[in-house]
Amino acid sequence: MTSAATTFIKEGTTEVLVHRNKLTNKGPSSRQHEPFYNPSMELNRDLSILVNQWFINTSKKQVQLLDGLAASGIRGLRYAHELTGEFNVSINDWDDESNTLIQQNIQTHSYSNITLFQKDLNMLLSERRFDSIDIDPFGSPVYFLDAAVRSIYNHGIIACTATDTAALCGVFPKVCYRRYGALPLHGPTMHEVGLRILLGVVCREAAKYDRGIEPLLCYTTDHYHRLYVQIKNGKNAANTSMARYQSIPATDIPLSQGQTTTVGPLWLGNIQKKSMLQALQSLVSVKTLHSRPELWKLLCLLEEEADGPPFFYTTNDLSSMLKQSPPPLEHIVERLRTKGYIVTRTHCTSTGFKTNAPLDVIKEVFN
Ligand SMILES: C[S@@+](CC[C@H](N)C(=O)[O-])C[C@H]1O[C@@H](n2cnc3c(N)ncnc32)[C@H](O)[C@@H]1O
Repeated sequence: MTSAATTFIKEGTTEVLVHRNKLTNKGPSSRQHEPFYNPSMELNRDLSILVNQWFINTSKKQVQLLDGLAASGIRGLRYAHELTGEFNVSINDWDDESNTLIQQNIQTHSYSNITLFQKDLNMLLSERRFDSIDIDPFGSPVYFLDAAVRSIYNHGIIACTATDTAALCGVFPKVCYRRYGALPLHGPTMHEVGLRILLGVVCREAAKYDRGIEPLLCYTTDHYHRLYVQIKNGKNAANTSMARYQSIPATDIPLSQGQTTTVGPLWLGNIQKKSMLQALQSLVSVKTLHSRPELWKLLCLLEEEADGPPFFYTTNDLSSMLKQSPPPLEHIVERLRTKGYIVTRTHCTSTGFKTNAPLDVIKEVFN
């Protein structure tokens, strides 16, 4: 069913028809109206396979999965082909060409567990309820969060990607304030601050409906923020979550020297669920995933940082602040642990570490 314009690619074990020029084009001169496909997001989609497999394995009901902004449909098609257990898949994109392409993909493989929609995602979320909702927009997911927290069943998972990192990381603070109602922080910890601002918005949106959140797995790259959050019904769950949604002075965040502003409001609770990350590590070896080495590294780092406090230091930034050449990270970790402090690495940067040690103690071991 390929034409001159389309070709099959393979992610995981799933063959998907995509538009040929989406494999190579980068520049604005390329045609923009063909369904989007970005090969560099394969790890992001591989992780969706793991999280949803874990979710199906641990659910006691048939799980309703939604790929809400599907483009070529690759994420939902992969759900249908690669996941096992009791589930069905809904795929949605409002675009005509996307719909045609997804239709072709469904027919080629005779998938019987997929329902295809062509709706505004907010409309679909207002009409139907799901257990797992994926929101993968161009830019910010914020326009879909209210409808998503209303649609999701109790204990369901909302996953979303935000590619507006310049807003969330404080390059454009006014945009961040407008979109997320929060003040960002531009500096070494900006990616984690951005992630926590996004989590804070999910918390606030859920709390309006007496629902709380439990972040399961959250990470950032240079190009996007990504989070998986479980939604829990009840006023107590909402109140407990809202207690972790606060504004803080910039001076409370490591390496924000000289900045006197307030940051947030943002989520100050845990951002990783250790037991789930351990379960995902077992699933990595069961599934066929092309990004397995990178994924494994990421899952190990996220598991480690699950025990750490919010935010982090970096040896490079401490080095410029203290005007000393940086010791190896292992040296700092070992000396702080010997003194009884919590120390973990962070996925945000290879020179970063999280610790509950006060700055004076960190300075002491920094030589
Ligand atoms: C970044 S692409 C999705 C990429 C896809 N999830 C993947 O993994 O390749 C965003 C898609 O959202 C669709 N879209 C944007 N706004 C929408 C809306 N309000 N309702 C439904 N689809 C929408 C666009 O047509 C586009 O195909």
